[in-house]
Amino acid sequence: MKFAIPLALLASGNLALATPEPVQPLNHQLHKRALAYSEPHYPSPWMDSKAIGWEDAYEKAKAFVSQLTLLEKVNLTTGIGWGAEQCVGQTGAIPRLGLKSMCMQDAPLAIRGTDYNSVFPAGVTVAATFDRGLMYRRGYALGEEAKGKGVTVLLGPVAGPLGRAPEGGRNWEGFSPDPVLTGIAMAETVRGTQDAGVVACAKHFVGNEQEHFRQVGEARGYGYNISETLSSNIDDKTMHELYLWPFVDAIRAGVGSVMCVYTQANNSYGCQNSKLLNNLLKQENGFQGFVMSDWQAQHTGVASAAAGLDMSMPGDTVFNSGRSYWGANLTLAVLNGTLPQWRIDDMAMRIMAAFFKAGQTVEDQEPINFSFWTLDTYGPLHWAAGKDYQQINWHVDVQGDHGTLIREIAARGTVLLKNTGSLPLDKPKFVAIIGEDAGPNPFGPNSCPDRGCNNGTLGIGWGSGTGNFPYLVTPDQALQARAVQDGSRYESILRNHAPTEIKALVSQQDATAIVFVNANAGEGYINVEGNEGDRLNLTLWKEGDALVKNVSSWCNNTIVVIHSPGPVLLTEWYDNPNITAILWAGMPGQENGNSITDVLYGRVNPSGRTPFTWGATRESYGTDVLYEPNNGNEAPQQDYTEGVFIDYRHFDKADAPVLYEFGYGLSYTTFNYSNLKIEKHEVGEYTPTTGQTEQAPTFGNFSENVEDYVFPSEEFPYVYQFIYPYLNSTAMSSSSGDADYGKTAEEFLPPKANDGSAQPLLPSSGHHHPGGNPALYDIMYTVTADITNTGKLAGDEVPQLYLNLGGPEDPKVVLRGFDRLRVEPGEKVQFRAVLTRRDVSSWDTENQDWVITDFPKKVFVGSSSRKLELEEVLP
Ligand code: NOJ
Repeated sequence: MKFAIPLALLASGNLALATPEPVQPLNHQLHKRALAYSEPHYPSPWMDSKAIGWEDAYEKAKAFVSQLTLLEKVNLTTGIGWGAEQCVGQTGAIPRLGLKSMCMQDAPLAIRGTDYNSVFPAGVTVAATFDRGLMYRRGYALGEEAKGKGVTVLLGPVAGPLGRAPEGGRNWEGFSPDPVLTGIAMAETVRGTQDAGVVACAKHFVGNEQEHFRQVGEARGYGYNISETLSSNIDDKTMHELYLWPFVDAIRAGVGSVMCVYTQANNSYGCQNSKLLNNLLKQENGFQGFVMSDWQAQHTGVASAAAGLDMSMPGDTVFNSGRSYWGANLTLAVLNGTLPQWRIDDMAMRIMAAFFKAGQTVEDQEPINFSFWTLDTYGPLHWAAGKDYQQINWHVDVQGDHGTLIREIAARGTVLLKNTGSLPLDKPKFVAIIGEDAGPNPFGPNSCPDRGCNNGTLGIGWGSGTGNFPYLVTPDQALQARAVQDGSRYESILRNHAPTEIKALVSQQDATAIVFVNANAGEGYINVEGNEGDRLNLTLWKEGDALVKNVSSWCNNTIVVIHSPGPVLLTEWYDNPNITAILWAGMPGQENGNSITDVLYGRVNPSGRTPFTWGATRESYGTDVLYEPNNGNEAPQQDYTEGVFIDYRHFDKADAPVLYEFGYGLSYTTFNYSNLKIEKHEVGEYTPTTGQTEQAPTFGNFSENVEDYVFPSEEFPYVYQFIYPYLNSTAMSSSSGDADYGKTAEEFLPPKANDGSAQPLLPSSGHHHPGGNPALYDIMYTVTADITNTGKLAGDEVPQLYLNLGGPEDPKVVLRGFDRLRVEPGEKVQFRAVLTRRDVSSWDTENQDWVITDFPKKVFVGSSSRKLELEEVLP
């Protein structure tokens, strides 16, 4: 032993607690029923050197990884610990070859925790634009900002949660409960981000649909006595047709990383679930990048490696334990043969290939110029250890002109739900703005950590998916500026609870009352007004309903603007004739006030479409958050019994009325749909993939001399709680600190976990084609229709293509395409969309492949999921 290290560093990963797949307990004591079960899939698929779009990145990664020592490979795969350096997560560096520590940083709508960055509209508002170009441009702009701060991997976009339950706390970080809309938004965001030179991370894979019980510690903090996290029990068909779908689109777009979830899927933890990671992601869909754990979502050492995890984040077992499941334990596991070299080589290859694929180079890495932990200019580089005091923030301004784009996205993502003629505003005589949501947070827009409060106008939700506002334009500011310009009288009361003053104001002659109301949601680690991430209900916050009802009883020209993460219940007042307009302004980001002013005054003719359904009651959605543990103190069980029937698919199936359906949104002009045509293309038969993979490749050699792996020297600049790849002793068993050390892989890893021989390809997979069997993307039909602007104003229309797949178990309609088209008054333009084989297929659980059923299918083109103006049988 060369170097005595503190006990805390004894990285005691659970090499022996490696049971990645639970045994199916048939007679569960509490449930007396079989718990959902996740089948094992081993070995973990290795990268494919010929994968389309990855060839070049693979070559570069190969050249780099082949030079690495085992310790250096381990350094790539293991985070250095919570708060160890500047970013929310960082890997170990490889100084010998000039590779800096990679910076993982949140998140989907801003660079979190920095300054001089932009705050973009949330995913849900981007989804409402139904505009691929805006989705791409937002991804690109986010990528530019991340790049400018020295970020290697930007931890977004989000397709999980998809939005199974409208109350889900983080739905707004993602896009829409519709998998096709979300899939397109994922793909465009990934392309944009990676084109700007930063690796994107599709998260959270998969089934993290609610905040309650996602983490044991968090749940216990709220007083729930559970010992394991929630299990999302998802059947195979639902997984393929709903939850997996948008991740596959991200894979096809070349996403470099995927984050696995805190929750369990079918009673196996997301980050050691070989069905999810080995089978669905890597084998079936040919994902070539790397899987990183969500923060503290890793629970085992070798078992998670065998199940397909490639990077441990933030690297310590629990925050600041100084211990790791990987780090030294991964070094040991390879040295003693528990984990084959090919697996650690594959991890390193996947990480480096993603790095190169996003256009990064070892020679030209942007230095990290911020510290996530503080905005102070000087502080400890090693934040948790309080060590190496130096400059850690350079306050680099990365905003460019993104404010313009943000304003445009939020305006185009604003949905006009109702308009009986009061909009657009045209030099109104007297504007009265009512409500706290129109004004500022009196303590400043960034006063609550991670935006964990709801004061003033709502720009974004709360949690890790947020950022510091560079400014937040309030509706009050922007509308007042416009009123002054127009010569309108303008007054605002930025309170919800001031009935006397509000009544006195809005009941005056000629008042146009604009009431701002909101609801908020966020991530589970912050409780805002009793909402532990997930919303407690779907009603407006701060007695918004009472406010709307009051104002509309005093003013017969009341316009309501809603900022919210998803649907809220409008049932009590939406059809009140005094309410002349209702707008959903989503979560618009920093340009909040400007964007809504653009829409209210017609500078932007509204064309946002609601990316979710507005039901009449909470119960009408048919799905909800599980708020109380339902399995004693064991893993709460959430059965996705509704299958693919969430949001509009559910309402349609139940034939239930809705207030505003998915895809709905008004314009200041009107459109006519005509002339539907379907052209069928000859694409040949679907050929299930056959053949085998290569055998698992290895890259370079490693020394088997244990001496080479202990801490380098007495002078080693050890940092407290930092995760290292080094052993503390040449005696491997004591180095592991694991009582079960010495068990062989066969004794505790599932069969085939270490089998590096050539493996059969799945029929549904695509040899060399990320995204599954390439025939799935054959274009089988082209659908066209004519859209005529029959009104007097130029405007954008969003024609939507829906499909009925014909079977008794199929949803009434599913979205399959859309476009956003600019149409001048009187002009007729053509809408064009294609249907791929995947679009017209269903997942066949028996054959484990996609199949086009014999049921007659129907195509619809319409302006929403329930206004299907045109229809035709699919030839
Ligand atoms: C946990 C969140 O679930 C994830 O989305 C985020 O990227 C990490 N924390 C890091 O902040």
